[in-house]
Amino acid sequence: MPRFETLIVDVHLATMVPGGEPYGAIRDGAIALSGERLEWVGSASRLDGDPEDVAKRVLRGGGGWLTPGLVDCHTHLVFAGDRVDEFERRLHGASYEEIARAGGGIRSTVIRTREAPEETLLRLARARLARLVAEGVTTVEIKSGYGLETATEMKMLRVARALGALPPVDVQSTLLAAHALPPEHEGNRDTYIELIRAEMIPRAAQQSLADAVDAFCERIGFSAEECARVFEAARAHGLAVRLHADQLSDGGGARLAARFGARSADHLEHTSEDGVRALAEAGTVAVLLPGAFYFLRETKAPPVALLRGHGVPIALGSDLNPGSSPVLSLLVALNMACVLLGMTPEEALAGVTREGARALGLSGDRGTLEAGKRADLALWNIGQPAELAYWIGGNPLRLVFKDGVPRTPPEAARALERPIPDEATAW
Ligand code: NIG
Ligand code: FE
Repeated sequence: MPRFETLIVDVHLATMVPGGEPYGAIRDGAIALSGERLEWVGSASRLDGDPEDVAKRVLRGGGGWLTPGLVDCHTHLVFAGDRVDEFERRLHGASYEEIARAGGGIRSTVIRTREAPEETLLRLARARLARLVAEGVTTVEIKSGYGLETATEMKMLRVARALGALPPVDVQSTLLAAHALPPEHEGNRDTYIELIRAEMIPRAAQQSLADAVDAFCERIGFSAEECARVFEAARAHGLAVRLHADQLSDGGGARLAARFGARSADHLEHTSEDGVRALAEAGTVAVLLPGAFYFLRETKAPPVALLRGHGVPIALGSDLNPGSSPVLSLLVALNMACVLLGMTPEEALAGVTREGARALGLSGDRGTLEAGKRADLALWNIGQPAELAYWIGGNPLRLVFKDGVPRTPPEAARALERPIPDEATAW
């Protein structure tokens, strides 16, 4: 009697389980899948018999490397329009902050996103998500934040939920209503914070539209005290919190995130050692976003050595958004993390697997290759795992498995075009 349902052999495994070999590597490994879960992970030499004798179905990996499915734990991929004009203005000397203060930046995407019908937003977001999925991403986080009014924030979250109902990817959605002050609340910051607390957070929670709440703690965003008020309401509604912290200046964002036991503090370019210490004590994940650092031509890199030294888990995201990180490739973000931020290829890969899952509160379920975890896997045509951070452009993905179902990259992208299941839109 075959013991396993499906067995993958002729592969090397980058399990990303810490503590042993680099990358948790098992050369000449084997991995057994049962339904949507991993059943057994180990060296092929430990199988009791030939693969065909121990499994009903045997897949051969052609000597490639198998990693956990990638997790992109920070994106803003639901939006309408683009910010190409702003990119040109910045290259003529204007700064991101100047453009934002003059009413452009996030606010210009808000105008386009408010106008866009839900179907249009869904169509645009599907195309962007298809690029990530075709590169092995099986879990993605998507933030709202281009509505800044209840109806549009909920519209964005519904689009994120609809994407998550499609087969090749899971979506975690985050309410980022405190992203920028909307023009109609100019001069009246408190009424906007109150709207978030009294209307948006309760509605997102009641309708199960959000898994977490985020805020932009910055001079051009919201003060630490304003973000704290948003977080209190999130907590009262049982939602996890995360924070855009210290991206353009040190506004005490990391400390605030730590004080609220945030799942993650993101960006962190200007975080001080005190902030890093606070993150370490709170067990908050540092999410680094090299795409924004690169695209805004920042010069102050996040304190990677301090984060490492204090044992703060480091995740990476694409930060896919139209203003500061039009990055449609998580693999390119791996390269940027190494070249621009000084992370190692192993840290970078951990950042989009184990630590990315941790930033989303999903560590127990995914992010490493271990028996019992979800059968989300990526099979790569590479000779060693560091290659994933080495090439710039190109896509070595051979197969991506979501919940145990294997697809080629084009098949995974096409599976995103399927109709949205009815039950997913019955709010
Ligand atoms: O993560 N920092 C704030 N939010 C985004 C940028 C959004 C935008 O410019 O549209 C970020 O970089
Ligand atoms: Fe962001």
